[in-house]
Amino acid sequence: MSGKVTRRRFVRGVSSAFAASAILDLPQRTVMANHEKKVRLAFVGVGNRGTGLLKTLLNLEGVEVNAVSDIRRAHLERAQRLAEAKQGKRPVGYGEGPEDFRKLVLRSDLDAVIVATPWEWHTPMAVAAMKAGKYAGVEVPAALTVDECWELVKTSEETGVPCMMLENVCYFRDMLLLLNLVRQGVLGEMLHCEGGYQHDSRAGCFDDKGNFDDPQASDRGLGQLWYTPHTVRRNGNLYPTHPIGPIAQYMNIERGDRFTYLVSLSSKSRGLNLWVENKFGPAHKNARLNYALGDINTTLIKTHSGCTVVLYYDTQSPRPYDLGFRVQGTRGIYEMAKDSIYIEGLSPHEKWEAIETYREKYEHPLWRTLGAAAQKHGHGGSDYVTLHQFVKAVRERNQPEQDVYDAATWSVISPLSEKSVAQGSAPVEFPDFTRGKWKTRKPLEISS
Ligand SMILES: NC(=O)c1ccc[n+]([C@@H]2O[C@H](COP(=O)([O-])OP(=O)(O)OC[C@H]3O[C@@H](n4cnc5c(N)ncnc54)[C@H](O)[C@@H]3O)[C@@H](O)[C@H]2O)c1
Repeated sequence: MSGKVTRRRFVRGVSSAFAASAILDLPQRTVMANHEKKVRLAFVGVGNRGTGLLKTLLNLEGVEVNAVSDIRRAHLERAQRLAEAKQGKRPVGYGEGPEDFRKLVLRSDLDAVIVATPWEWHTPMAVAAMKAGKYAGVEVPAALTVDECWELVKTSEETGVPCMMLENVCYFRDMLLLLNLVRQGVLGEMLHCEGGYQHDSRAGCFDDKGNFDDPQASDRGLGQLWYTPHTVRRNGNLYPTHPIGPIAQYMNIERGDRFTYLVSLSSKSRGLNLWVENKFGPAHKNARLNYALGDINTTLIKTHSGCTVVLYYDTQSPRPYDLGFRVQGTRGIYEMAKDSIYIEGLSPHEKWEAIETYREKYEHPLWRTLGAAAQKHGHGGSDYVTLHQFVKAVRERNQPEQDVYDAATWSVISPLSEKSVAQGSAPVEFPDFTRGKWKTRKPLEISS
Protein backbone atom coordinates (compact mmCIF):
# COMPACT_ATOMS: atom_id res chain seq x y z
CA MET A 1 0.00 0.00 0.00
CA SER A 2 2.68 2.45 -0.98
CA GLY A 3 2.56 5.72 -2.90
CA LYS A 4 -0.51 7.76 -3.62
CA VAL A 5 -3.86 6.90 -2.18
CA THR A 6 -5.93 5.81 -5.16
CA ARG A 7 -9.32 7.31 -5.87
CA ARG A 8 -11.18 4.01 -5.56
CA ARG A 9 -9.61 3.06 -2.23
CA PHE A 10 -9.91 6.44 -0.68
CA VAL A 11 -13.41 7.44 -1.76
CA ARG A 12 -14.80 4.35 -0.05
CA GLY A 13 -15.90 5.54 3.36
CA VAL A 14 -14.85 9.13 2.85
CA SER A 15 -17.48 11.58 3.91
CA SER A 16 -15.86 14.98 3.59
CA ALA A 17 -16.22 17.19 0.55
CA PHE A 18 -12.50 17.94 0.70
CA ALA A 19 -11.55 14.32 0.53
CA ALA A 20 -13.96 13.45 -2.21
CA SER A 21 -12.54 16.12 -4.50
CA ALA A 22 -8.89 15.87 -3.66
CA ILE A 23 -7.83 12.50 -4.97
CA LEU A 24 -4.39 12.51 -6.45
CA ASP A 25 -5.16 10.91 -9.78
CA LEU A 26 -7.18 14.01 -10.67
CA PRO A 27 -5.54 16.49 -13.07
CA GLN A 28 -2.91 18.78 -11.59
CA ARG A 29 -5.20 21.83 -11.81
CA THR A 30 -7.70 20.20 -9.45
CA VAL A 31 -4.99 19.24 -7.02
CA MET A 32 -3.66 22.80 -7.01
CA ALA A 33 -7.11 24.13 -6.23
CA ASN A 34 -7.36 21.78 -3.29
CA HIS A 35 -4.06 23.06 -1.90
CA GLU A 36 -5.89 26.28 -1.20
CA LYS A 37 -8.44 24.47 0.96
CA LYS A 38 -7.87 24.15 4.65
CA VAL A 39 -6.99 20.79 6.12
CA ARG A 40 -9.69 20.14 8.72
CA LEU A 41 -8.65 18.35 11.86
CA ALA A 42 -9.93 17.02 15.15
CA PHE A 43 -8.04 16.17 18.33
CA VAL A 44 -8.91 13.29 20.62
CA GLY A 45 -7.12 13.57 23.97
CA VAL A 46 -5.89 17.03 24.89
CA GLY A 47 -3.88 16.43 28.05
CA ASN A 48 -0.20 17.31 28.18
CA ARG A 49 0.80 15.97 24.79
CA GLY A 50 -2.41 16.71 22.91
CA THR A 51 -2.38 20.32 24.09
CA GLY A 52 1.27 20.70 23.05
CA LEU A 53 0.49 19.28 19.61
CA LEU A 54 -2.59 21.49 19.31
CA LYS A 55 -0.58 24.64 20.07
CA THR A 56 2.01 23.66 17.47
CA LEU A 57 -0.58 22.70 14.89
CA LEU A 58 -2.37 26.03 15.22
CA ASN A 59 0.86 27.65 13.97
CA LEU A 60 0.76 25.76 10.67
CA GLU A 61 -0.63 27.42 7.55
CA GLY A 62 -3.90 26.22 6.08
CA VAL A 63 -5.31 24.16 8.93
CA GLU A 64 -8.40 24.43 11.08
CA VAL A 65 -9.46 22.47 14.15
CA ASN A 66 -13.18 21.74 13.97
CA ALA A 67 -13.66 19.28 16.84
CA VAL A 68 -12.02 18.20 20.08
CA SER A 69 -12.72 15.30 22.40
CA ASP A 70 -11.59 14.68 25.96
CA ILE A 71 -13.20 12.95 28.91
CA ARG A 72 -11.95 15.70 31.25
CA ARG A 73 -14.05 18.81 30.97
CA ALA A 74 -11.17 21.12 32.00
CA HIS A 75 -8.89 19.71 29.28
CA LEU A 76 -11.60 19.88 26.65
CA GLU A 77 -12.46 23.49 27.40
CA ARG A 78 -8.81 24.54 27.54
CA ALA A 79 -8.33 23.13 24.02
CA GLN A 80 -11.48 24.81 22.74
CA ARG A 81 -10.29 28.16 24.15
CA LEU A 82 -6.82 27.77 22.64
CA ALA A 83 -8.18 26.98 19.20
CA GLU A 84 -10.80 29.71 19.34
CA ALA A 85 -8.22 32.32 20.33
CA LYS A 86 -6.03 31.39 17.37
CA GLN A 87 -8.54 30.65 14.61
CA GLY A 88 -11.56 32.68 15.72
CA LYS A 89 -13.83 29.64 15.64
CA ARG A 90 -14.56 27.36 18.60
CA PRO A 91 -14.18 23.64 17.80
CA VAL A 92 -17.17 21.49 18.71
CA GLY A 93 -16.55 19.58 21.95
CA TYR A 94 -17.11 15.86 22.57
CA GLY A 95 -16.88 15.12 26.27
CA GLU A 96 -19.71 12.72 26.98
CA GLY A 97 -17.61 9.78 28.12
CA PRO A 98 -14.80 7.62 26.76
CA GLU A 99 -16.67 6.48 23.63
CA ASP A 100 -17.76 9.93 22.48
CA PHE A 101 -14.89 10.02 19.94
CA ARG A 102 -17.00 7.61 17.86
CA LYS A 103 -19.45 10.44 17.18
CA LEU A 104 -16.65 12.90 16.50
CA VAL A 105 -15.04 10.81 13.74
CA LEU A 106 -18.34 10.73 11.82
CA ARG A 107 -18.37 14.52 11.30
CA SER A 108 -18.39 15.55 7.66
CA ASP A 109 -16.13 18.57 8.24
CA LEU A 110 -12.96 16.59 9.03
CA ASP A 111 -10.09 15.27 6.95
CA ALA A 112 -7.97 13.86 9.78
CA VAL A 113 -8.06 12.97 13.45
CA ILE A 114 -5.07 13.32 15.80
CA VAL A 115 -5.07 10.92 18.76
CA ALA A 116 -3.10 11.74 21.93
CA THR A 117 -4.86 9.66 24.59
CA PRO A 118 -3.43 6.96 26.90
CA TRP A 119 -2.05 3.93 25.05
CA GLU A 120 -5.08 1.63 25.34
CA TRP A 121 -7.10 3.99 23.21
CA HIS A 122 -4.69 4.48 20.31
CA THR A 123 -5.74 1.57 18.12
CA PRO A 124 -9.52 1.79 18.74
CA MET A 125 -9.43 5.52 17.95
CA ALA A 126 -7.19 5.25 14.88
CA VAL A 127 -9.34 2.39 13.54
CA ALA A 128 -12.56 4.37 14.08
CA ALA A 129 -11.03 7.37 12.29
CA MET A 130 -9.92 5.30 9.29
CA LYS A 131 -13.27 3.52 9.06
CA ALA A 132 -14.92 6.95 8.92
CA GLY A 133 -12.58 7.94 6.08
CA LYS A 134 -10.35 10.27 8.14
CA TYR A 135 -6.55 10.09 8.13
CA ALA A 136 -5.38 8.89 11.54
CA GLY A 137 -2.43 10.65 13.16
CA VAL A 138 -1.77 8.63 16.28
CA GLU A 139 0.62 9.14 19.16
CA VAL A 140 3.25 6.59 20.09
CA PRO A 141 3.00 3.64 20.38
CA ALA A 142 0.20 3.08 17.86
CA ALA A 143 -0.73 -0.33 19.31
CA LEU A 144 -0.14 -2.50 22.38
CA THR A 145 -0.59 -6.05 21.06
CA VAL A 146 0.24 -8.04 17.95
CA ASP A 147 -3.50 -8.25 17.19
CA GLU A 148 -3.88 -4.49 17.43
CA CYS A 149 -0.95 -4.02 15.03
CA TRP A 150 -2.67 -6.28 12.51
CA GLU A 151 -5.97 -4.46 13.06
CA LEU A 152 -4.32 -1.15 12.13
CA VAL A 153 -2.73 -2.65 9.01
CA LYS A 154 -5.88 -4.43 7.86
CA THR A 155 -8.12 -1.42 8.47
CA SER A 156 -5.81 0.86 6.52
CA GLU A 157 -5.56 -1.64 3.66
CA GLU A 158 -9.31 -2.31 3.55
CA THR A 159 -10.41 1.32 3.79
CA GLY A 160 -7.52 2.75 1.77
CA VAL A 161 -7.16 5.41 4.46
CA PRO A 162 -3.65 6.10 5.79
CA CYS A 163 -2.50 5.97 9.38
CA MET A 164 0.63 7.78 10.54
CA MET A 165 2.14 7.20 13.95
CA LEU A 166 3.45 10.62 14.95
CA GLU A 167 7.00 9.46 15.77
CA ASN A 168 8.70 12.80 16.25
CA VAL A 169 12.24 11.60 16.98
CA CYS A 170 12.55 10.78 13.26
CA TYR A 171 12.36 14.55 12.73
CA PHE A 172 14.92 15.63 15.33
CA ARG A 173 17.44 17.83 13.55
CA ASP A 174 20.37 15.50 14.24
CA MET A 175 18.39 12.39 13.39
CA LEU A 176 17.55 13.94 10.01
CA LEU A 177 21.21 14.90 9.53
CA LEU A 178 22.14 11.28 10.23
CA LEU A 179 19.49 10.10 7.77
CA ASN A 180 21.06 12.29 5.11
CA LEU A 181 24.56 11.02 5.93
CA VAL A 182 23.29 7.43 5.69
CA ARG A 183 21.47 8.04 2.41
CA GLN A 184 24.53 9.76 0.88
CA GLY A 185 26.58 6.69 1.76
CA VAL A 186 28.95 8.62 4.05
CA LEU A 187 28.63 5.96 6.79
CA GLY A 188 28.81 3.11 4.26
CA GLU A 189 26.47 0.14 4.42
CA MET A 190 24.46 -0.08 7.67
CA LEU A 191 25.68 -2.67 10.18
CA HIS A 192 24.46 -1.82 13.66
CA CYS A 193 22.44 0.79 15.57
CA GLU A 194 21.62 1.41 19.21
CA GLY A 195 19.19 3.73 20.93
CA GLY A 196 16.97 3.94 23.93
CA TYR A 197 14.21 5.64 25.81
CA GLN A 198 16.28 6.46 28.87
CA HIS A 199 14.33 8.99 30.88
CA ASP A 200 13.81 9.07 34.63
CA SER A 201 9.98 9.06 34.70
CA ARG A 202 9.45 8.06 38.34
CA ALA A 203 8.04 11.43 39.39
CA GLY A 204 5.18 11.11 36.87
CA CYS A 205 4.14 7.65 38.08
CA PHE A 206 2.52 8.76 41.35
CA ASP A 207 0.41 11.58 42.67
CA ASP A 208 1.23 13.73 45.70
CA LYS A 209 0.11 10.89 48.00
CA GLY A 210 2.14 8.17 46.28
CA ASN A 211 -0.91 6.69 44.52
CA PHE A 212 -1.83 6.21 40.86
CA ASP A 213 -5.52 5.40 41.10
CA ASP A 214 -7.01 8.85 41.76
CA PRO A 215 -8.94 9.78 38.58
CA GLN A 216 -8.89 13.46 39.53
CA ALA A 217 -5.10 13.61 39.91
CA SER A 218 -4.37 14.35 36.27
CA ASP A 219 -6.69 17.41 36.51
CA ARG A 220 -4.24 18.62 39.12
CA GLY A 221 -1.40 18.10 36.64
CA LEU A 222 0.09 15.13 38.50
CA GLY A 223 1.88 12.99 35.96
CA GLN A 224 0.75 10.27 33.59
CA LEU A 225 -0.92 8.04 36.15
CA TRP A 226 -2.53 5.94 33.40
CA TYR A 227 0.98 4.68 32.63
CA THR A 228 1.76 3.22 36.06
CA PRO A 229 -0.54 0.14 35.80
CA HIS A 230 1.53 -0.90 32.76
CA THR A 231 4.56 -1.13 35.07
CA VAL A 232 2.61 -3.41 37.40
CA ARG A 233 1.57 -5.98 34.82
CA ARG A 234 4.06 -5.75 31.91
CA ASN A 235 7.77 -6.49 31.61
CA GLY A 236 9.62 -5.60 28.41
CA ASN A 237 10.35 -2.53 26.31
CA LEU A 238 7.14 -0.55 26.76
CA TYR A 239 8.14 2.48 24.67
CA PRO A 240 10.37 1.47 21.75
CA THR A 241 9.26 3.79 18.96
CA HIS A 242 11.42 6.84 19.77
CA PRO A 243 14.69 5.02 19.17
CA ILE A 244 13.49 2.49 16.61
CA GLY A 245 11.85 5.07 14.30
CA PRO A 246 15.05 6.70 13.05
CA ILE A 247 16.96 3.40 13.18
CA ALA A 248 14.33 1.69 11.01
CA GLN A 249 14.56 4.54 8.52
CA TYR A 250 18.37 4.29 8.38
CA MET A 251 18.09 0.52 7.81
CA ASN A 252 15.24 0.73 5.26
CA ILE A 253 13.04 -1.51 7.36
CA GLU A 254 9.91 -2.60 5.42
CA ARG A 255 11.60 -0.99 2.40
CA GLY A 256 14.27 -3.49 1.35
CA ASP A 257 15.06 -5.02 4.73
CA ARG A 258 12.96 -6.21 7.65
CA PHE A 259 13.27 -7.12 11.30
CA THR A 260 13.29 -10.91 11.61
CA TYR A 261 13.50 -11.65 15.36
CA LEU A 262 14.33 -10.16 18.74
CA VAL A 263 15.51 -11.31 22.13
CA SER A 264 14.83 -9.30 25.24
CA LEU A 265 15.86 -9.33 28.87
CA SER A 266 15.00 -7.17 31.85
CA SER A 267 16.89 -6.39 35.01
CA LYS A 268 15.29 -6.76 38.42
CA SER A 269 12.72 -4.17 39.46
CA ARG A 270 13.73 -1.80 42.25
CA GLY A 271 13.17 1.79 41.15
CA LEU A 272 9.46 2.36 41.80
CA ASN A 273 9.49 0.63 45.19
CA LEU A 274 12.45 2.75 46.28
CA TRP A 275 10.87 5.94 44.97
CA VAL A 276 7.68 5.44 46.97
CA GLU A 277 9.60 4.27 50.04
CA ASN A 278 11.86 7.34 49.98
CA LYS A 279 9.00 9.81 49.42
CA PHE A 280 6.14 8.29 51.39
CA GLY A 281 7.73 5.81 53.79
CA PRO A 282 8.24 2.03 53.76
CA ALA A 283 4.69 1.33 55.01
CA HIS A 284 3.05 2.85 51.92
CA LYS A 285 1.24 0.13 49.93
CA ASN A 286 3.01 1.15 46.72
CA ALA A 287 6.42 0.84 48.37
CA ARG A 288 5.64 -2.88 48.70
CA LEU A 289 3.74 -3.39 45.44
CA ASN A 290 5.07 -5.99 43.01
CA TYR A 291 6.02 -4.07 39.84
CA ALA A 292 6.50 -6.43 36.91
CA LEU A 293 8.61 -4.02 34.89
CA GLY A 294 12.35 -4.53 35.29
CA ASP A 295 14.25 -1.29 35.74
CA ILE A 296 16.37 -1.69 32.62
CA ASN A 297 15.20 -3.64 29.60
CA THR A 298 17.61 -4.51 26.80
CA THR A 299 16.26 -5.80 23.49
CA LEU A 300 18.35 -7.08 20.58
CA ILE A 301 16.96 -7.23 17.05
CA LYS A 302 18.31 -8.91 13.91
CA THR A 303 17.39 -7.87 10.39
CA HIS A 304 17.00 -10.02 7.28
CA SER A 305 20.13 -8.49 5.67
CA GLY A 306 22.22 -9.11 8.81
CA CYS A 307 22.08 -5.76 10.65
CA THR A 308 21.79 -5.70 14.43
CA VAL A 309 19.99 -3.29 16.79
CA VAL A 310 20.16 -2.79 20.56
CA LEU A 311 17.32 -0.93 22.28
CA TYR A 312 17.18 0.18 25.91
CA TYR A 313 14.14 1.04 28.01
CA ASP A 314 15.27 2.67 31.23
CA THR A 315 12.73 4.92 32.98
CA GLN A 316 12.66 4.13 36.68
CA SER A 317 16.22 4.74 37.82
CA PRO A 318 17.99 8.02 38.59
CA ARG A 319 19.68 9.18 35.39
CA PRO A 320 19.83 12.11 32.97
CA TYR A 321 17.67 11.93 29.83
CA ASP A 322 19.48 10.30 26.92
CA LEU A 323 18.31 8.70 23.68
CA GLY A 324 21.75 7.09 23.40
CA PHE A 325 21.92 6.68 19.63
CA ARG A 326 24.81 4.85 17.97
CA VAL A 327 24.68 4.48 14.19
CA GLN A 328 27.36 2.34 12.61
CA GLY A 329 28.15 1.39 9.02
CA THR A 330 31.03 -0.04 7.04
CA ARG A 331 32.67 3.39 6.74
CA GLY A 332 32.10 5.00 10.12
CA ILE A 333 30.18 5.52 13.32
CA TYR A 334 28.09 8.22 15.06
CA GLU A 335 27.64 8.31 18.83
CA MET A 336 25.10 10.66 20.39
CA ALA A 337 26.67 10.54 23.87
CA LYS A 338 29.88 11.94 22.38
CA ASP A 339 27.99 14.16 19.90
CA SER A 340 30.64 12.90 17.54
CA ILE A 341 31.27 11.01 14.36
CA TYR A 342 34.18 9.10 12.88
CA ILE A 343 34.42 8.46 9.14
CA GLU A 344 37.22 6.46 7.66
CA GLY A 345 39.22 8.51 5.17
CA LEU A 346 37.62 11.79 6.26
CA SER A 347 38.20 11.99 10.03
CA PRO A 348 41.75 12.12 11.44
CA HIS A 349 42.93 8.54 12.10
CA GLU A 350 40.99 7.08 15.08
CA LYS A 351 39.86 10.54 16.24
CA TRP A 352 36.25 11.53 16.86
CA GLU A 353 35.02 14.71 15.11
CA ALA A 354 32.17 16.93 16.28
CA ILE A 355 28.98 16.18 14.34
CA GLU A 356 28.88 19.94 13.64
CA THR A 357 31.76 19.42 11.19
CA TYR A 358 29.28 17.78 8.83
CA ARG A 359 26.30 20.08 9.48
CA GLU A 360 26.70 22.55 6.66
CA LYS A 361 27.22 19.99 3.95
CA TYR A 362 24.74 17.35 5.16
CA GLU A 363 21.91 19.25 6.90
CA HIS A 364 18.73 17.46 5.81
CA PRO A 365 16.74 19.38 3.15
CA LEU A 366 13.61 19.17 5.31
CA TRP A 367 15.38 20.95 8.15
CA ARG A 368 16.85 23.56 5.79
CA THR A 369 13.28 24.39 4.71
CA LEU A 370 11.40 24.11 8.00
CA GLY A 371 14.07 24.54 10.68
CA ALA A 372 13.65 28.27 11.28
CA ALA A 373 9.88 27.99 11.81
CA ALA A 374 10.17 24.71 13.68
CA GLN A 375 12.77 25.39 16.32
CA LYS A 376 10.61 27.32 18.76
CA HIS A 377 8.25 24.34 19.01
CA GLY A 378 8.43 21.21 21.17
CA HIS A 379 11.20 18.60 21.20
CA GLY A 380 13.70 20.85 19.45
CA GLY A 381 11.28 21.64 16.63
CA SER A 382 10.58 18.02 15.73
CA ASP A 383 6.92 18.29 16.78
CA TYR A 384 6.42 21.04 14.21
CA VAL A 385 8.09 19.01 11.44
CA THR A 386 6.07 15.90 12.36
CA LEU A 387 2.75 17.74 12.15
CA HIS A 388 3.85 19.59 9.02
CA GLN A 389 4.55 16.29 7.27
CA PHE A 390 1.30 14.75 8.48
CA VAL A 391 -0.77 17.72 7.30
CA LYS A 392 1.12 17.74 3.98
CA ALA A 393 0.22 14.09 3.39
CA VAL A 394 -3.44 14.78 4.22
CA ARG A 395 -3.54 17.86 1.97
CA GLU A 396 -1.93 16.02 -0.94
CA ARG A 397 -3.88 12.81 -0.34
CA ASN A 398 -0.60 10.90 -0.10
CA GLN A 399 0.68 8.17 2.15
CA PRO A 400 2.57 9.81 5.03
CA GLU A 401 6.31 9.14 5.26
CA GLN A 402 5.66 6.95 8.30
CA ASP A 403 2.90 4.66 7.10
CA VAL A 404 0.79 2.01 8.77
CA TYR A 405 3.44 -0.70 8.26
CA ASP A 406 5.97 1.45 10.12
CA ALA A 407 3.43 2.08 12.89
CA ALA A 408 2.84 -1.67 13.28
CA THR A 409 6.48 -2.77 13.00
CA TRP A 410 7.81 -0.17 15.43
CA SER A 411 4.98 -0.68 17.95
CA VAL A 412 5.05 -4.49 17.88
CA ILE A 413 8.44 -4.48 19.59
CA SER A 414 6.64 -4.02 22.93
CA PRO A 415 4.52 -7.19 22.90
CA LEU A 416 7.32 -9.21 21.28
CA SER A 417 9.81 -8.08 23.92
CA GLU A 418 7.32 -8.96 26.68
CA LYS A 419 6.94 -12.42 25.17
CA SER A 420 10.71 -12.90 24.97
CA VAL A 421 11.25 -11.76 28.57
CA ALA A 422 8.49 -14.09 29.76
CA GLN A 423 10.14 -16.99 27.91
CA GLY A 424 13.58 -16.49 29.43
CA SER A 425 14.82 -14.26 26.57
CA ALA A 426 13.85 -16.73 23.84
CA PRO A 427 13.98 -15.44 20.24
CA VAL A 428 10.59 -14.14 19.03
CA GLU A 429 9.87 -13.64 15.32
CA PHE A 430 8.46 -10.43 13.88
CA PRO A 431 5.22 -10.68 11.91
CA ASP A 432 5.63 -9.53 8.30
CA PHE A 433 2.95 -6.84 8.25
CA THR A 434 3.72 -6.06 4.60
CA ARG A 435 3.19 -9.72 3.59
CA GLY A 436 6.31 -9.71 1.44
CA LYS A 437 5.99 -6.20 0.05
CA TRP A 438 9.03 -5.11 2.08
CA LYS A 439 11.19 -6.63 -0.67
CA THR A 440 10.01 -4.18 -3.31
CA ARG A 441 8.82 -1.14 -1.35
CA LYS A 442 10.94 1.90 -2.18
CA PRO A 443 12.94 3.83 0.43
CA LEU A 444 11.20 6.91 1.81
CA GLU A 445 10.99 10.01 -0.33
CA ILE A 446 12.20 11.99 2.67
CA SER A 447 15.27 9.81 2.62
CA SER A 448 16.31 10.23 -1.00
N1 LIG B 1 5.79 11.78 20.97
C1 LIG B 1 6.13 12.29 22.14
O1 LIG B 1 7.21 12.87 22.30
C2 LIG B 1 5.21 12.12 23.31
C3 LIG B 1 5.42 12.85 24.49
C4 LIG B 1 4.50 12.70 25.54
C5 LIG B 1 3.43 11.83 25.41
N2 LIG B 1 3.27 11.13 24.26
C6 LIG B 1 2.11 10.23 24.09
O2 LIG B 1 0.94 11.01 24.14
C7 LIG B 1 -0.13 10.27 24.73
C8 LIG B 1 -0.79 11.09 25.84
O3 LIG B 1 0.15 11.35 26.85
P1 LIG B 1 -0.06 12.59 27.83
O4 LIG B 1 1.21 12.79 28.54
O5 LIG B 1 -0.64 13.73 27.08
O6 LIG B 1 -1.16 12.02 28.84
P2 LIG B 1 -2.28 12.88 29.59
O7 LIG B 1 -2.83 12.01 30.63
O8 LIG B 1 -1.72 14.22 29.98
O9 LIG B 1 -3.36 13.17 28.44
C9 LIG B 1 -4.24 12.17 27.97
C10 LIG B 1 -5.58 12.84 27.72
O10 LIG B 1 -6.46 11.90 27.12
C11 LIG B 1 -7.74 12.05 27.74
N3 LIG B 1 -8.51 10.83 27.53
C12 LIG B 1 -8.35 9.62 28.14
N4 LIG B 1 -9.23 8.73 27.64
C13 LIG B 1 -9.95 9.39 26.72
C14 LIG B 1 -11.04 9.01 25.87
N5 LIG B 1 -11.52 7.76 25.84
N6 LIG B 1 -11.55 9.95 25.03
C15 LIG B 1 -11.08 11.21 25.03
N7 LIG B 1 -10.06 11.63 25.82
C16 LIG B 1 -9.51 10.72 26.64
C17 LIG B 1 -7.42 12.36 29.19
O11 LIG B 1 -8.51 12.95 29.86
C18 LIG B 1 -6.25 13.32 29.01
O12 LIG B 1 -6.66 14.66 28.87
C19 LIG B 1 0.49 8.97 25.21
O13 LIG B 1 0.21 7.98 24.28
C20 LIG B 1 1.98 9.22 25.21
O14 LIG B 1 2.73 8.06 24.95
C21 LIG B 1 4.13 11.27 23.21
